[in-house]
Amino acid sequence: MLMSDTLTHPDEGAAFISEQDAALRRWTHGAPGPIKIGSDEHRKMFCRMLLETHDPYRPAVLDWPKLEPDVLSRLTSLPIWDIAVQTEGRASIRVLTYAQTLSDPLLRKAVEMDAAEEARHKVVLSHLVQAYGIELAPEPAYPPPKKAEWAWMFTGYSECIDSFFAFGLFRSAQRSGFFPPDLVETFEPVIQEEARHILFFVNWVAWYRKNMPWWRRPWHAVRVAAIWFMLVWERLAIARGIDASGNARDSNFLPANREVLGDSLDPREMIALCLRENDARMSGYDARLLRPTLVPTLARFALRLLKK
Ligand SMILES: [Fe+2]
Ligand SMILES: [Fe+2]
Repeated sequence: MLMSDTLTHPDEGAAFISEQDAALRRWTHGAPGPIKIGSDEHRKMFCRMLLETHDPYRPAVLDWPKLEPDVLSRLTSLPIWDIAVQTEGRASIRVLTYAQTLSDPLLRKAVEMDAAEEARHKVVLSHLVQAYGIELAPEPAYPPPKKAEWAWMFTGYSECIDSFFAFGLFRSAQRSGFFPPDLVETFEPVIQEEARHILFFVNWVAWYRKNMPWWRRPWHAVRVAAIWFMLVWERLAIARGIDASGNARDSNFLPANREVLGDSLDPREMIALCLRENDARMSGYDARLLRPTLVPTLARFALRLLKK
């Protein structure tokens, strides 16, 4: 068995999940039997998943535990807060702008919910920043994107990458004590929300593609490839400390890696942990929903290469 000490114990995260929250992580669509991807029932299923598993927490009542001086200074010196706040600000306006183009009421309601959750993440972060006296750079404006659908897909795919790594980083920060237990508890619902978002997004993409006329599919494939190219480019730039395009700041989590994990970062352990966490976070939702596959597949591939 691979790196057994790094595997997530099934109950490890459970200690930080309230009963209400745990119930929201198990969800099955009402219609019985197989559901064809791209069908109307599929659309209802992924929309309802997002709407019915919404966690109604209010950022204003979240607890910001008093931190020991060393924990506090580690947290406030993380270089991620500006990026994190701005990423949520941009995500919410992009998702909301796309929602406003939709005529299907159920789909629109679900995408609006997604946008509202992104806006709420920003509020959570602004409370954290206030509570711990973190100084932020002045925020830029968040204008609505001109190409609404492109911006929605760009946000969706970027979450597919960032959330996958965030799942592992979050658990790792909990284990190393970088995040004290109270803070883990406060952030747990936010991380799970990103799992729901990418679950929703990959199902939307599959449904959307199935429902477009065949002659539009090649163009769609080109656009998706272009998005992936830009996303990988951005993240490589961040990893090298370059921000040439000025857009590299879309990524939330990668710069935090070393800070959170210290020198003990073992890429194999980290990737294995991300995979386990990804599976665990997706496991409670209806098995008929598609799961994100590309990033986990690449991660498994990387794990095989690293093993040799
Ligand atoms: Fe978010
Ligand atoms: Fe999200």
